[in-house]
Amino acid sequence: MKVLVTGGCGYIGSHTCVELFQAGYEVVIIDNFVNSKAEVLDKIEQITNKRPFFYEGDARDIELLERIFNEHEIHAAIDFAAYKAVGESVEKPLMYYQNNLNCLLNLCEVMQRHNCKNLVFSSSATVYGEPETVPITEAFPLSSTNPYGSTKLFGEMILQDLYRSDSTWSIAILRYFNPVGAHESGLIGEDPNGIPNNLMPYICKVANKELPCLHVFGNDYPTHDGTGVRDYIHVVDLAKGHIAALRKINDSQLLDIYNLGTGCGYSVLEMANTYAEINQVEVPYQIDPRRPGDIPECYADTKKAERELHWKAEKSLTQMCKDSYRFTVNSQK
Ligand code: WQD
Repeated sequence: MKVLVTGGCGYIGSHTCVELFQAGYEVVIIDNFVNSKAEVLDKIEQITNKRPFFYEGDARDIELLERIFNEHEIHAAIDFAAYKAVGESVEKPLMYYQNNLNCLLNLCEVMQRHNCKNLVFSSSATVYGEPETVPITEAFPLSSTNPYGSTKLFGEMILQDLYRSDSTWSIAILRYFNPVGAHESGLIGEDPNGIPNNLMPYICKVANKELPCLHVFGNDYPTHDGTGVRDYIHVVDLAKGHIAALRKINDSQLLDIYNLGTGCGYSVLEMANTYAEINQVEVPYQIDPRRPGDIPECYADTKKAERELHWKAEKSLTQMCKDSYRFTVNSQK
């Protein structure tokens, strides 16, 4: 069975393509390399000995999507293609709404024309806004505090309306917590262009002496050590969650929503210190003021995905730190 992966050369997309191959699927990727690199295709082949069918282009391009569906019998699609930097979304909201929403809308349009109605949608824990309590279940109230989060919230609403209009669709909406780590081969991983927004890639660059020190955004939060707490999940566990979701939508017509996290929260200082200790490197840091829009604490209640997807994150924080470090070192070669 062929699965179309939009943004399949990206961080989560590439790891998911590896797991798709290993689960016996064939893979078709559309990617415009706006936040990824063409060499990732070679790395996926090196890891799996299989090469995806590949189309370079914008996932909003209806003609290109039509060509893909005419050239391949696509069984399902996984929609990763989206801009995802919170800060950038505040500066450039139109770019985020244009891109993220039209990637989803145009994909669904072409899927409908070709009677392909199995879709896994990449959403985010950011749709929970600032939760009243933790852990967070899928039934928690939704809100968005930035345009990026709004594109994910609107994407979920679009899919709810689509399913209400035609219940022959089968849709899994996956709300990711904080993806980190890299494939154990060290061949693929998180490779952001420029200065990283997210914590783990920033820690990796500090430890690798590409950046002078980690700026800890606030140590006066109501958490055990005053720094922000998040649910960091290994990207390979996250990728396997997509395979589990595909199996679920293969078996039945539904629209359902799942948290993909570990259910454990770690603070900024715990992440920095664990990374340093596990990899025997230094991660110097300084305490800076809070980053606007940050929330104190966020981690998942994972019971629904465990019960209904028969999926549970397995990799430890130690593994996340080791695999991130290995990819960072390999990327220097
Ligand atoms: C984690 C913690 C920061 C960088 C964002 C998006 C979310 C998802 C994941 C796409 C926080 C602290 C960070 C730094 C720091 N992206 N931090 N110094 O903000 O939880 O989530 O990325 O889906 O949608 O909102 O992740 O890694 O940016 O921050 O102290 O240089 O690390 O304050 O407590 P976040 P993050």
